[in-house]
Amino acid sequence: MTALPAFRNEPLLELRRAPERARLDDALRALDTRLPLRVPIWIGDERRDGDALRSTDPGTPDRVVATAPIATADDAHAAVAAAQAAFPAWAATPAADRAATLVRGAAWMRERRAELAALCVRECAKPWAEADADVAEAIDFLEYYARGALVLADAPPGLVQVPGERNTLRYAPRGVCAVIAPWNFPLAIPAGMTAAALATGNSVVLKPAEQAPGCGRMVVEALRAGGVPPAALALLPGEGETGAALAAHPGVATIAFTGSGAVGLELLRTAAAKPPQAGVLTRVVAEMGGKNCVLVDADADLDDAVPAIVHSAFAYAGQKCSAAARVLVHEAVADALLERLAGAVAVLPVGQAEAHGTVTGPVVEEAAQARVARYAQLASDTGTIAARRDPPTSPGWFAGPTVATDLPSESPVLSEEIFGPLLAVERVCDLDEACDRVDALPFALTGGLFARNPRTIAQVASRSPVGNLYVNRGITGAMVGRQPFGGNRLSGTGTKAGGPDYLLQFVEPRVMTENT
Ligand code: NAD
Ligand code: ALA
Repeated sequence: MTALPAFRNEPLLELRRAPERARLDDALRALDTRLPLRVPIWIGDERRDGDALRSTDPGTPDRVVATAPIATADDAHAAVAAAQAAFPAWAATPAADRAATLVRGAAWMRERRAELAALCVRECAKPWAEADADVAEAIDFLEYYARGALVLADAPPGLVQVPGERNTLRYAPRGVCAVIAPWNFPLAIPAGMTAAALATGNSVVLKPAEQAPGCGRMVVEALRAGGVPPAALALLPGEGETGAALAAHPGVATIAFTGSGAVGLELLRTAAAKPPQAGVLTRVVAEMGGKNCVLVDADADLDDAVPAIVHSAFAYAGQKCSAAARVLVHEAVADALLERLAGAVAVLPVGQAEAHGTVTGPVVEEAAQARVARYAQLASDTGTIAARRDPPTSPGWFAGPTVATDLPSESPVLSEEIFGPLLAVERVCDLDEACDRVDALPFALTGGLFARNPRTIAQVASRSPVGNLYVNRGITGAMVGRQPFGGNRLSGTGTKAGGPDYLLQFVEPRVMTENT
């Protein structure tokens, strides 16, 4: 097997150091002089600019961060046709050479860490720590999948052999992969899905989120700079219609999607509806939303639980699929927990993403602000607001972090993904009742448990349906290779990004039997 050094996670920047913070501030100032970035429809070496699509700074909505054309169905057709033409050569490229392009792409990103983090701050209002983690995760995905693809190519599973017969299994790429990405991890998620598809020999058409085309362009630049042939990786900026046209194309063999449940389900239907004469069963890799619960037992250490819950619920304004949305707390400690959560929310650093130390910045867009406000009003009308921070008066799309309790069990606040800084706290008489409530949800992405009794921990773990269960810690921030990430039920197809099985979604196994 071609040797690459063992995978290790990219270290995060030490943001407590003033020089490090100053370097990031400089990068942000330099970026601001270059705005708006131009994001083309980029098919092979052909680029077409436009400004029908504009991403803006959620903290200063007048500031345009990137402009792009909106790719039409014809553009999607052209991109898929180009990717189909490029596929045979890229598929035939030795796995080691493909892996090397990813590793060089990671190096390109590593050299531009500050610039890329600054773009996440500007385009998606990621606070610096989150922005840095996003860049580091993108690098991790490239490095991790480069190594994973080598394992698939060089050491596929062995088969049973009998005298006179040789059986071999190899993994072949599937064809064109449409990558459809969300905005909340604007580098890491498109980079991960794209890298997985490319590493295994597929060609890719990337449709970044309309809120983050600038970040999408950087993913393509990194991989092309690493040596991915331009024809094998196209960029198709646009809105939902662009994604729908791309996904419906009969030439797309795989759809790698991360985003909302509604769109994920639609893509599954789109794939199933392709006419048989297309000769393809389009595979859908869909990672979707959650309604993530943290369980707190009577013996939990609240000194650990409170900061972990607050960070899981309110960092990046709760806009992570992994974020805590509900806390189910044993009635014996419910009052104490609520009082301490209120105290923690009162001092939560809320402000502009670019201000160092901010934990909760603005939400991504006006519609998100309105959505969070609607749920907060419902919580106030039907329950009790246990804590609420007024949002800053500055012009961004701020939503005040809120803790609600005493909600009726049928409240949509308890069952629907809000994707904002609103946390619901419920009392339970024991953890069995808490597990029943978790089990009643259609989502199963992340979950948390604060408890000391090992029997309780084992019992909850055995009942938990979620893809990622965290015990006595926060429930966000899965690390590539350490916490393969992905949900079950309506939260996703369970393929675990950043884990050893993920690449299998992008290949088809082929077995050859030879009489010897
Ligand atoms: P979204 O579903 O609105 O959009 C995601 C992408 O799909 C965008 O590129 C969008 O343009 C595209 N799209 C929209 N309509 C489409 C259609 N009809 N056909 C094809 N493509 C279409 O999601 P979002 O707002 O960008 O992201 C937030 C959601 O993503 C949340 O639900 C969150 O939980 C989820 N998410 C899940 C994970 C995970 O790993 N499970 C990670 C991040 C985000
Ligand atoms: N992978 C991201 C996290 O764990 C979504 O927070």
